[in-house]
Amino acid sequence: MWLSVGGPRGRHRFSINSDSVFFFAICELTVPIAMNFFKKILKRGPKVEKVDLSKRFDLITRVGQGSMSKVWRAMDRISGRVVAVKVLDKAKLIRLEKRFVGMKKPVEGEVAISLRHPNIVKTIEHGLTSNDEQYLVMEFIEGRGFSYYVDQQNEVMHANRLRFMVQMGRALAYVHEQGYIHRDICPRNVVVTEDLNLKLIDFGLTVPDTPEFRAPGNRTGTAAYMAPELVMRQTTDQRLDIFSYAVSCYEMCAHAYPWITGDTLESVLEHVNRPPKPLKKFVPNIDEELSEIIMKGLARYPDDRWRTTVQMVREIQKVQRRLEPANADDE
Ligand SMILES: Nc1ncnc2c1ncn2[C@@H]1O[C@H](COP(=O)(O)OP(=O)(O)O)[C@@H](O)[C@H]1O
Ligand SMILES: [Mg+2]
Repeated sequence: MWLSVGGPRGRHRFSINSDSVFFFAICELTVPIAMNFFKKILKRGPKVEKVDLSKRFDLITRVGQGSMSKVWRAMDRISGRVVAVKVLDKAKLIRLEKRFVGMKKPVEGEVAISLRHPNIVKTIEHGLTSNDEQYLVMEFIEGRGFSYYVDQQNEVMHANRLRFMVQMGRALAYVHEQGYIHRDICPRNVVVTEDLNLKLIDFGLTVPDTPEFRAPGNRTGTAAYMAPELVMRQTTDQRLDIFSYAVSCYEMCAHAYPWITGDTLESVLEHVNRPPKPLKKFVPNIDEELSEIIMKGLARYPDDRWRTTVQMVREIQKVQRRLEPANADDE
Protein backbone atom coordinates (compact mmCIF):
# COMPACT_ATOMS: atom_id res chain seq x y z
CA MET A 1 0.00 0.00 0.00
CA TRP A 2 0.99 3.66 -0.29
CA LEU A 3 1.15 5.69 2.81
CA SER A 4 1.49 9.41 2.79
CA VAL A 5 3.54 10.68 5.70
CA GLY A 6 3.51 14.37 6.58
CA GLY A 7 6.58 15.93 8.04
CA PRO A 8 7.88 19.43 8.55
CA ARG A 9 9.47 19.36 5.11
CA GLY A 10 6.33 18.31 3.27
CA ARG A 11 4.66 15.03 2.53
CA HIS A 12 6.60 11.97 1.45
CA ARG A 13 5.38 8.82 -0.18
CA PHE A 14 6.65 5.43 0.99
CA SER A 15 5.92 1.95 -0.26
CA ILE A 16 5.19 0.17 2.97
CA ASN A 17 3.39 -2.94 4.33
CA SER A 18 0.33 -2.46 6.54
CA ASP A 19 1.95 -3.94 9.72
CA SER A 20 4.29 -0.99 9.80
CA VAL A 21 1.61 1.67 9.65
CA PHE A 22 1.06 1.71 13.38
CA PHE A 23 4.81 1.90 14.03
CA PHE A 24 5.23 4.88 11.67
CA ALA A 25 2.22 6.66 13.08
CA ILE A 26 3.71 6.37 16.59
CA CYS A 27 7.07 7.59 15.31
CA GLU A 28 5.47 10.56 13.64
CA LEU A 29 3.90 11.58 16.91
CA THR A 30 6.77 10.90 19.25
CA VAL A 31 9.89 11.82 17.25
CA PRO A 32 9.14 15.60 17.09
CA ILE A 33 8.32 15.62 20.82
CA ALA A 34 11.61 13.83 21.65
CA MET A 35 13.56 16.16 19.31
CA ASN A 36 12.12 19.22 21.01
CA PHE A 37 12.97 17.79 24.41
CA PHE A 38 16.62 17.23 23.44
CA LYS A 39 16.84 20.63 21.71
CA LYS A 40 15.70 22.29 24.95
CA ILE A 41 18.27 20.37 26.98
CA LEU A 42 21.07 21.30 24.57
CA LYS A 43 19.99 24.95 24.58
CA ARG A 44 20.44 25.09 28.33
CA GLY A 45 24.17 24.48 27.86
CA PRO A 46 26.47 22.67 30.23
CA LYS A 47 25.65 22.90 33.90
CA VAL A 48 27.87 25.55 35.47
CA GLU A 49 29.63 24.48 38.63
CA LYS A 50 29.52 27.46 40.99
CA VAL A 51 32.59 28.16 43.02
CA ASP A 52 32.83 29.20 46.65
CA LEU A 53 35.78 31.57 46.23
CA SER A 54 36.87 31.73 49.85
CA LYS A 55 36.98 27.92 50.05
CA ARG A 56 38.78 27.47 46.76
CA PHE A 57 41.23 30.39 47.14
CA ASP A 58 43.15 31.99 49.94
CA LEU A 59 42.30 35.60 49.07
CA ILE A 60 45.56 37.09 50.34
CA THR A 61 45.24 40.82 49.57
CA ARG A 62 43.09 43.17 47.56
CA VAL A 63 45.28 44.56 44.81
CA GLY A 64 43.00 46.61 42.74
CA GLN A 65 39.67 48.19 42.50
CA GLY A 66 38.68 48.79 38.92
CA SER A 67 35.49 50.46 37.88
CA MET A 68 33.61 47.18 37.61
CA SER A 69 35.32 44.74 39.95
CA LYS A 70 37.45 43.77 42.89
CA VAL A 71 40.76 42.04 42.31
CA TRP A 72 42.70 39.89 44.78
CA ARG A 73 46.16 38.41 44.89
CA ALA A 74 45.20 34.88 45.87
CA MET A 75 46.54 31.38 46.35
CA ASP A 76 44.74 28.63 44.51
CA ARG A 77 44.34 25.91 47.17
CA ILE A 78 44.17 23.24 44.43
CA SER A 79 47.21 24.10 42.33
CA GLY A 80 49.15 26.00 45.02
CA ARG A 81 49.70 28.80 42.47
CA VAL A 82 49.52 32.49 43.23
CA VAL A 83 46.89 33.94 40.92
CA ALA A 84 44.80 37.07 40.43
CA VAL A 85 41.10 36.61 41.15
CA LYS A 86 38.79 39.22 39.66
CA VAL A 87 35.17 39.32 40.83
CA LEU A 88 32.78 41.47 38.83
CA ASP A 89 30.32 43.71 40.63
CA LYS A 90 26.89 42.17 40.06
CA ALA A 91 24.83 45.39 40.09
CA LYS A 92 27.22 47.24 37.76
CA LEU A 93 27.32 44.29 35.39
CA ILE A 94 23.52 44.15 35.20
CA ARG A 95 23.53 47.85 34.31
CA LEU A 96 26.13 47.24 31.60
CA GLU A 97 24.31 44.22 30.20
CA LYS A 98 21.11 46.23 29.88
CA ARG A 99 22.86 48.10 27.09
CA PHE A 100 23.23 44.89 25.11
CA VAL A 101 19.79 43.35 25.50
CA GLY A 102 19.00 40.86 22.74
CA MET A 103 22.62 40.80 21.56
CA LYS A 104 24.98 37.94 22.17
CA LYS A 105 27.67 39.86 24.07
CA PRO A 106 30.25 37.38 25.31
CA VAL A 107 31.03 37.66 29.01
CA GLU A 108 34.44 39.04 30.01
CA GLY A 109 35.77 35.60 30.98
CA GLU A 110 34.87 34.11 27.59
CA VAL A 111 36.76 36.83 25.73
CA ALA A 112 39.74 36.87 28.10
CA ILE A 113 40.28 33.10 28.09
CA SER A 114 40.26 33.00 24.27
CA LEU A 115 43.19 35.44 24.02
CA ARG A 116 46.78 34.19 24.06
CA HIS A 117 49.45 36.79 23.43
CA PRO A 118 52.72 37.77 25.15
CA ASN A 119 51.30 41.25 25.89
CA ILE A 120 47.94 40.08 27.20
CA VAL A 121 47.40 38.73 30.70
CA LYS A 122 46.79 34.99 30.68
CA THR A 123 43.34 33.99 31.93
CA ILE A 124 43.26 30.50 33.41
CA GLU A 125 39.64 30.02 34.38
CA HIS A 126 36.32 31.83 34.55
CA GLY A 127 32.90 31.07 35.93
CA LEU A 128 30.31 31.97 38.53
CA THR A 129 30.78 32.26 42.27
CA SER A 130 28.29 30.75 44.69
CA ASN A 131 26.86 34.29 44.94
CA ASP A 132 26.26 34.35 41.17
CA GLU A 133 29.04 36.84 40.49
CA GLN A 134 31.22 36.36 37.43
CA TYR A 135 34.84 35.70 38.29
CA LEU A 136 38.10 35.30 36.40
CA VAL A 137 41.31 33.63 37.50
CA MET A 138 44.44 35.04 35.86
CA GLU A 139 48.18 34.76 36.12
CA PHE A 140 49.20 37.28 38.78
CA ILE A 141 51.29 40.09 37.35
CA GLU A 142 53.89 41.17 39.88
CA GLY A 143 54.65 44.73 38.95
CA ARG A 144 52.82 48.00 38.66
CA GLY A 145 49.94 49.50 36.79
CA PHE A 146 51.05 51.22 33.60
CA SER A 147 49.40 54.46 34.79
CA TYR A 148 52.07 54.64 37.46
CA TYR A 149 54.82 54.93 34.83
CA VAL A 150 52.78 57.29 32.66
CA ASP A 151 52.19 59.56 35.67
CA GLN A 152 55.74 59.37 37.00
CA GLN A 153 57.45 59.98 33.65
CA ASN A 154 60.53 58.47 35.30
CA GLU A 155 63.71 57.02 33.85
CA VAL A 156 62.01 53.68 33.10
CA MET A 157 59.28 55.44 31.15
CA HIS A 158 61.77 57.52 29.18
CA ALA A 159 64.00 54.58 28.38
CA ASN A 160 61.11 52.32 27.35
CA ARG A 161 58.57 54.69 25.82
CA LEU A 162 58.76 53.34 22.28
CA ARG A 163 58.97 49.71 23.47
CA PHE A 164 55.86 50.27 25.60
CA MET A 165 54.01 51.83 22.67
CA VAL A 166 54.89 48.92 20.43
CA GLN A 167 53.89 46.32 23.05
CA MET A 168 50.56 47.99 23.78
CA GLY A 169 49.90 48.26 20.05
CA ARG A 170 50.75 44.62 19.45
CA ALA A 171 48.30 43.53 22.13
CA LEU A 172 45.58 45.67 20.56
CA ALA A 173 46.39 44.48 17.03
CA TYR A 174 46.01 40.89 18.27
CA VAL A 175 42.63 41.67 19.92
CA HIS A 176 41.50 43.13 16.59
CA GLU A 177 42.81 40.14 14.66
CA GLN A 178 40.73 37.91 16.92
CA GLY A 179 37.64 39.82 15.81
CA TYR A 180 36.98 42.07 18.79
CA ILE A 181 36.66 45.78 19.57
CA HIS A 182 38.25 46.38 22.99
CA ARG A 183 36.43 49.64 23.78
CA ASP A 184 38.45 50.53 26.87
CA ILE A 185 42.04 50.99 25.78
CA CYS A 186 43.88 53.17 28.31
CA PRO A 187 46.96 52.91 30.58
CA ARG A 188 44.74 51.93 33.52
CA ASN A 189 43.95 48.68 31.74
CA VAL A 190 47.58 47.75 31.28
CA VAL A 191 50.03 46.40 33.85
CA VAL A 192 53.81 46.27 33.63
CA THR A 193 55.69 43.14 34.71
CA GLU A 194 58.84 43.36 36.82
CA ASP A 195 60.92 42.77 33.68
CA LEU A 196 59.13 45.73 32.08
CA ASN A 197 56.79 44.04 29.66
CA LEU A 198 53.25 45.32 29.16
CA LYS A 199 50.16 43.15 29.64
CA LEU A 200 46.68 44.29 28.61
CA ILE A 201 44.31 43.17 31.39
CA ASP A 202 40.68 44.24 31.14
CA PHE A 203 38.14 42.89 28.62
CA GLY A 204 35.02 43.98 30.47
CA LEU A 205 33.72 46.16 27.64
CA THR A 206 35.08 44.12 24.75
CA VAL A 207 32.54 43.25 22.05
CA PRO A 208 32.70 41.24 18.83
CA ASP A 209 33.54 43.33 15.78
CA THR A 210 30.22 42.55 14.07
CA PRO A 211 27.56 44.85 12.55
CA GLU A 212 25.21 44.59 15.55
CA PHE A 213 27.94 45.74 17.96
CA ARG A 214 29.20 48.43 15.57
CA ALA A 215 25.71 49.94 15.31
CA PRO A 216 25.17 53.32 16.99
CA GLY A 217 24.32 52.97 20.62
CA ASN A 218 25.74 53.37 24.08
CA ARG A 219 28.81 55.35 25.14
CA THR A 220 30.71 52.77 27.16
CA GLY A 221 34.40 53.47 27.69
CA THR A 222 36.68 55.85 29.58
CA ALA A 223 35.91 59.53 28.90
CA ALA A 224 39.42 60.85 28.20
CA TYR A 225 40.07 58.10 25.63
CA MET A 226 36.68 58.15 23.91
CA ALA A 227 36.60 58.42 20.14
CA PRO A 228 34.42 61.17 18.61
CA GLU A 229 32.15 58.68 16.80
CA LEU A 230 31.43 57.00 20.13
CA VAL A 231 30.74 60.36 21.80
CA MET A 232 28.32 61.14 18.97
CA ARG A 233 26.71 57.70 19.24
CA GLN A 234 27.49 56.96 15.60
CA THR A 235 28.51 53.70 13.95
CA THR A 236 31.83 52.54 15.35
CA ASP A 237 34.47 50.00 14.43
CA GLN A 238 37.94 48.92 15.56
CA ARG A 239 39.26 52.38 14.74
CA LEU A 240 37.72 53.67 17.97
CA ASP A 241 40.41 51.61 19.75
CA ILE A 242 43.06 53.17 17.51
CA PHE A 243 41.90 56.56 18.79
CA SER A 244 42.17 55.44 22.45
CA TYR A 245 45.56 53.88 21.75
CA ALA A 246 46.73 57.16 20.20
CA VAL A 247 45.53 59.10 23.29
CA SER A 248 47.54 56.64 25.43
CA CYS A 249 50.65 57.14 23.26
CA TYR A 250 50.17 60.91 23.47
CA GLU A 251 50.00 60.68 27.26
CA MET A 252 53.15 58.52 27.35
CA CYS A 253 55.00 61.34 25.62
CA ALA A 254 53.33 64.49 26.95
CA HIS A 255 52.15 63.54 30.42
CA ALA A 256 48.98 65.38 29.38
CA TYR A 257 45.86 64.70 27.37
CA PRO A 258 45.21 66.07 23.89
CA TRP A 259 42.02 67.72 25.19
CA ILE A 260 40.88 69.12 28.50
CA THR A 261 39.41 66.12 30.28
CA GLY A 262 36.63 65.43 32.67
CA ASP A 263 33.75 63.05 33.08
CA THR A 264 31.15 65.44 31.70
CA LEU A 265 29.54 65.21 28.29
CA GLU A 266 30.79 68.74 27.68
CA SER A 267 34.40 67.65 28.05
CA VAL A 268 34.12 64.59 25.80
CA LEU A 269 32.42 66.79 23.21
CA GLU A 270 35.78 68.57 22.96
CA HIS A 271 36.98 65.45 21.11
CA VAL A 272 34.34 66.20 18.48
CA ASN A 273 34.45 69.97 18.31
CA ARG A 274 38.09 70.92 18.79
CA PRO A 275 41.33 69.74 17.23
CA PRO A 276 43.73 68.02 19.64
CA LYS A 277 46.52 70.15 21.09
CA PRO A 278 49.66 69.49 19.03
CA LEU A 279 51.96 67.06 20.81
CA LYS A 280 54.80 69.46 20.04
CA LYS A 281 53.22 71.98 22.37
CA PHE A 282 54.10 69.76 25.35
CA VAL A 283 57.20 68.08 23.94
CA PRO A 284 58.91 70.57 21.61
CA ASN A 285 61.79 68.21 20.85
CA ILE A 286 59.63 65.19 20.03
CA ASP A 287 60.60 63.26 16.92
CA GLU A 288 58.59 64.79 14.06
CA GLU A 289 57.61 61.44 12.58
CA LEU A 290 56.49 59.97 15.93
CA SER A 291 54.39 63.05 16.59
CA GLU A 292 52.69 62.72 13.18
CA ILE A 293 51.98 59.01 13.74
CA ILE A 294 50.27 59.70 17.06
CA MET A 295 48.37 62.77 15.84
CA LYS A 296 47.01 60.79 12.87
CA GLY A 297 45.56 58.27 15.37
CA LEU A 298 43.63 61.16 16.97
CA ALA A 299 41.87 62.27 13.80
CA ARG A 300 38.25 63.37 14.27
CA TYR A 301 37.00 61.02 11.51
CA PRO A 302 37.96 57.33 11.50
CA ASP A 303 38.76 57.49 7.74
CA ASP A 304 41.54 59.97 8.51
CA ARG A 305 43.14 57.69 11.15
CA TRP A 306 45.32 54.68 10.64
CA ARG A 307 43.29 52.00 8.88
CA THR A 308 44.56 49.28 11.21
CA THR A 309 46.46 49.07 14.48
CA VAL A 310 49.07 46.93 12.70
CA GLN A 311 49.85 49.86 10.37
CA MET A 312 50.22 52.32 13.24
CA VAL A 313 52.46 49.97 15.21
CA ARG A 314 54.61 49.29 12.13
CA GLU A 315 55.23 53.02 11.76
CA ILE A 316 56.15 53.36 15.45
CA GLN A 317 58.54 50.44 15.02
CA LYS A 318 60.25 52.26 12.14
CA VAL A 319 60.84 55.22 14.45
CA GLN A 320 62.08 52.84 17.14
CA ARG A 321 64.57 51.22 14.72
CA ARG A 322 65.87 54.65 13.82
CA LEU A 323 66.04 56.13 17.35
CA GLU A 324 66.61 53.10 19.57
CA PRO A 325 67.92 50.26 17.40
CA ALA A 326 69.08 48.33 20.49
CA ASN A 327 65.48 48.17 21.80
CA ALA A 328 63.83 47.21 18.52
CA ASP A 329 62.97 43.64 17.68
CA ASP A 330 61.87 42.50 14.25
CA GLU A 331 58.63 40.71 15.12
N1 LIG B 1 46.27 39.68 36.51
C1 LIG B 1 46.49 40.69 37.34
N2 LIG B 1 47.62 40.73 38.08
C2 LIG B 1 47.85 41.75 38.94
N3 LIG B 1 47.00 42.79 39.14
C3 LIG B 1 45.86 42.81 38.43
C4 LIG B 1 45.54 41.77 37.50
N4 LIG B 1 44.34 42.05 36.96
C5 LIG B 1 43.93 43.21 37.50
N5 LIG B 1 44.83 43.68 38.39
C6 LIG B 1 44.71 44.92 39.19
O1 LIG B 1 43.33 45.21 39.40
C7 LIG B 1 42.98 46.49 38.83
C8 LIG B 1 41.58 46.42 38.22
O2 LIG B 1 41.55 45.46 37.19
P1 LIG B 1 40.65 45.64 35.88
O3 LIG B 1 40.68 44.34 35.13
O4 LIG B 1 41.04 46.84 35.13
O5 LIG B 1 39.19 45.85 36.54
P2 LIG B 1 37.92 46.69 36.05
O6 LIG B 1 37.27 45.89 34.96
O7 LIG B 1 37.06 46.76 37.25
O8 LIG B 1 38.38 48.03 35.58
C9 LIG B 1 44.08 46.77 37.83
O9 LIG B 1 44.27 48.13 37.63
C10 LIG B 1 45.30 46.11 38.46
O10 LIG B 1 45.85 46.97 39.44
MG1 LIG C 1 39.88 48.37 34.22
